Amino acid sequence: MWFTIILLQLLPHCTLSVHCPGGCVCDIRGSVKCTGDITAVPPLNPTTTFLLLLNDTQIKLLEERSFQPFHLLLRLRITHSSLDTIHPEAFYDAEQLRSIKLSSNALSVLPPKIFSDLSSLEQLQLDNNQIVSISSGLFEGLLNLTELDISKNHISQLDPDVFQNLTKLNILNLAGNRLRKLAGDIFHNLTQLKILALSSNQLETLESGLFDSLNNLLVLMLHKNQIHEMAPQIFWHMPALQKLTMSGNKLQYIPPRSFYYLPNLTHLTLYKNPLISLPDQLVGHMPRLQELYLYETNLVTVPSNLFANMTGLTGLYLNLNDNLTSLPKDLFCCLPKLNKLSIRNNNLLELHPDIFSSLPSLQILLLNKNKLWTLPEQIFRHTPRLRTLDLNNNHLRYLSGDVFLHADTLTVLSLSGNRWNCDCRILGIAEWIQENPTIVNDSEKGVACLEPYQLQGRPLQSLTHEDLHCGQTTYMPSTSVAAKVTSSPTTLTIARKDTATSGTTGTAPVSTSVLPLTSTPATTSLFSTTAEELYIIKMVDYNNQLGFYNTIVLEIGPDIVHNNHYNGWVYLWTVPSTGLFSGFMMALHIVLLVVGVVIIVASWCALYRLHEVMWTLGEVALEGHYQRIITKTYKF
Ligand SMILES: *[C@@H]1O[C@H](CO)[C@@H](O)[C@H](O)[C@H]1NC(C)=O
Ligand SMILES: *[C@@H]1O[C@H](CO)[C@@H](O)[C@H](O)[C@H]1NC(C)=O
Ligand SMILES: *[C@@H]1O[C@H](CO)[C@@H](O)[C@H](O)[C@H]1NC(C)=O
Ligand SMILES: *[C@@H]1O[C@H](CO)[C@@H](O)[C@H](O)[C@H]1NC(C)=O
Ligand SMILES: *[C@@H]1O[C@H](CO)[C@@H](O)[C@H](O)[C@H]1NC(C)=O
Ligand SMILES: *[C@@H]1O[C@H](CO)[C@@H](O)[C@H](O)[C@H]1NC(C)=O
Ligand SMILES: *[C@@H]1O[C@H](CO)[C@@H](O)[C@H](O)[C@H]1NC(C)=O
Ligand SMILES: *[C@@H]1O[C@H](CO)[C@@H](O)[C@H](O)[C@H]1NC(C)=O
Repeated sequence: MWFTIILLQLLPHCTLSVHCPGGCVCDIRGSVKCTGDITAVPPLNPTTTFLLLLNDTQIKLLEERSFQPFHLLLRLRITHSSLDTIHPEAFYDAEQLRSIKLSSNALSVLPPKIFSDLSSLEQLQLDNNQIVSISSGLFEGLLNLTELDISKNHISQLDPDVFQNLTKLNILNLAGNRLRKLAGDIFHNLTQLKILALSSNQLETLESGLFDSLNNLLVLMLHKNQIHEMAPQIFWHMPALQKLTMSGNKLQYIPPRSFYYLPNLTHLTLYKNPLISLPDQLVGHMPRLQELYLYETNLVTVPSNLFANMTGLTGLYLNLNDNLTSLPKDLFCCLPKLNKLSIRNNNLLELHPDIFSSLPSLQILLLNKNKLWTLPEQIFRHTPRLRTLDLNNNHLRYLSGDVFLHADTLTVLSLSGNRWNCDCRILGIAEWIQENPTIVNDSEKGVACLEPYQLQGRPLQSLTHEDLHCGQTTYMPSTSVAAKVTSSPTTLTIARKDTATSGTTGTAPVSTSVLPLTSTPATTSLFSTTAEELYIIKMVDYNNQLGFYNTIVLEIGPDIVHNNHYNGWVYLWTVPSTGLFSGFMMALHIVLLVVGVVIIVASWCALYRLHEVMWTLGEVALEGHYQRIITKTYKF
């Protein structure tokens, strides 16, 4: 038994070893594998060799008619060797070859007609060499070629005709070269192409019509280029496309409707582009797309219907966008299958109460590392499957105790790294944490008060009514906010200062932050986070004019009791609604009232007295008059 197995194993080697050259292993099916010190194609049995694999050898040169004797040779591989020169007639009389692989060598120049007789060749792999240029006729005779790999070379340009005769080509790999530009008609004859890789080049633009004849393309890889501009409708003629990669380019804008007519797309990447804005219509019906990554862009906001046609999404990763400060309320409107949503590491300030209201399948929601200062009480009302919620490292100061009322399935919640302000408003969430101690997974890491000073560091779950002095009033510093709009460049300057030091208008603000208003949508939320106070100032833009006197609304912050217009600035200043100052004001008010009453009474008294005096004087005068008349009469 054992003997038979060993014999069967050895048999092929024994019978052929007579013809098998040193350094090679030959097998009965006609394959020869050689490695090591050989410097030329070894002498082989021409009647048995179908497959020749030379890996990791010292071959530097392929001589004239190297393969002429081997009429049966179908596949040739010379790889990881130091091959740098091929004689122009090296493949003379080797028309039967189906596959040539010369990967990972030192080739830099290929003679122009070297492959011209190989009309049966189906596979040609020249990747991982130092090829600098390809002459226009190099592939012209390869009428049956289905796979061409010239990736990872140093090619910086290609002749428009170079692929002209490769009408059967299925796979074309040009990735990892130095291509800057492609002629608009370079792929015109490649109607059978299924996979086209152009990634990791230096392409700057995509010319109109470039992909128009690739009607059977399934995969198009364009990532890691320098593309900053692409013609409109460039992907409109690839109805079968399944994978399109555009990440790692220089796109700031994408033409409207660029991703229309791609119904079979399952994979789309756009991340790592300095996108500033996206058009209102971008993505056509794309029901098979399951995951979308849109991170590391410069987007400030996104169109509300961006994901509306991606109805099959299960994972959406809209994270690491430093400039993203707000999201439209209908953004996640049409994603019934969405399971995981990551909008972490953005600059989000607030979320609309209805933003998650139609995500019935949502289980994982990552909101950490934003600047959220609170969450609307109703926000998780319609997320019946929410399991994991990350809220750590935001600017949360309060949360309603009822915010998780409908999140019955919540099992993991992280809340650390926030700015909890422990006054009476914190009690609701503090009590919720006390009641659900196992859900908050980072409570020992610091879900603690930041303010007021005397409660700093106190874990939320340990707070009581007594700690917070609920019922007593708290002192809120009086502050003023000044806002100024300039028209060119359009900026809104928000300044903030304490009125405690300067209660008058017109003095220079203590701290300012200048916010560029690059776009003028109907409503822009802006913010100033100087010191610990957070103000959100909403600019309401009527008729596209940044008139400001009536249009700046201080949304969050102390109540405004007064505003004044001085020197191009609108000063909005406040007095606290509670506390010492208002007590003083009230007292002052009463004092003034009393003083007023006293003055009124006093003046009434004075008037009365005056009247009395006048009356007396009048009587005296009259008396005198009569006396004179009487005297006159008596004189008579
Ligand atoms: C060919 O040689 C290289 C370099 O020595 C080695 O990494 C690779 O595994 C070899 N490939 C085969 C198929 O033996
Ligand atoms: C090219 O391929 C087709 C089928 O794929 C085959 O019939 C034909 O003989 C091949 N042409 C040459 C020149 O080998
Ligand atoms: C292309 O192929 C045709 C045969 O189909 C041949 O006659 C012609 O010379 C080739 N031309 C080029 C430029 O490849
Ligand atoms: C290839 O394209 C050229 C124009 O670019 C055309 O003249 C030629 O007929 C095409 N060849 C084949 C075989 O389709
Ligand atoms: C899309 O995919 C389906 C199923 O995989 C296939 O039947 C259909 O032909 C494809 N559509 C196009 C335009 O290729
Ligand atoms: C969604 O796709 C349809 C059909 O492709 C298109 O008419 C519509 O404008 C698209 N919606 C958006 C928001 O782009
Ligand atoms: C986006 O943020 C970068 C720095 O992160 C900044 O240089 C750029 O000006 C911002 N762009 C816009 C449109 O705000
Ligand atoms: C808490 O859960 C979140 C979400 O799964 C996770 O990212 C975080 O690392 C967890 N924190 C701790 C301290 O386990």
